[in-house]
Amino acid sequence: MKFTYYGHSCFSIDFDGFRLLFDPFISPNEKAEKIDIDAIQADYILLTHGHQDHVVDLERIAKNTGATLISNYELVSYYGEKGIEGHPLNHGGSAEFPFGRVKYVTAIHSSVLPDGTYGGNPGGFVIEGKEQTFYFAGDTALTYDMKLIPEMGFDLDVAILPIGDNFTMGPDEAVKASDFVQCNQIIGVHYDTFPYIEIDHEEAKKKFAGKNKTLYLLAVGEQIEI
Ligand code: NI
Ligand code: MN
Repeated sequence: MKFTYYGHSCFSIDFDGFRLLFDPFISPNEKAEKIDIDAIQADYILLTHGHQDHVVDLERIAKNTGATLISNYELVSYYGEKGIEGHPLNHGGSAEFPFGRVKYVTAIHSSVLPDGTYGGNPGGFVIEGKEQTFYFAGDTALTYDMKLIPEMGFDLDVAILPIGDNFTMGPDEAVKASDFVQCNQIIGVHYDTFPYIEIDHEEAKKKFAGKNKTLYLLAVGEQIEI
């Protein structure tokens, strides 16, 4: 799979020939000013929760690309009224898509849309394709529920974890989360965008390296093949 970072918690993954875009927040992010939003291609947009720093460019990209939204029931209903097609899930549920199976899993956080509409309960996704499987935690605290992911039989190639602290886990909890989900390749997201969530990159990478794990902290626009 090819991972492309668009800053904050926004990234796309080319997965078995399908383009999956996550949590589209690009235009207000000064660190992502070089990203051409209208050039982004997506077959599916996966949304973890309704907060502004995850949804701002969703309508624009969905309308540009005709992508199908995958999220919780409340968010899919909200965007459905705006003409965006979607597939609703809720916690513990999974569904088959042409690129693989998507399971909506627990996140400990909150979720309200920028206009004040209730955004359902926040979640994360486990995505299992023919060859590879990955986990995107969304915005979350560390939670024992993460242990269920390997227990349910998911063998992760990579885990994408928030790492900026303050609103989500910080680096120490993210190391523990990677143990809970039994994964040694971690891509960090949700850091450095705002002063509240600035982290020391070298220190964070050292914490993972100390456990024989690799933490990738990509530059905006950077790609990585996993
Ligand atoms: Ni959030
Ligand atoms: Mn957030």
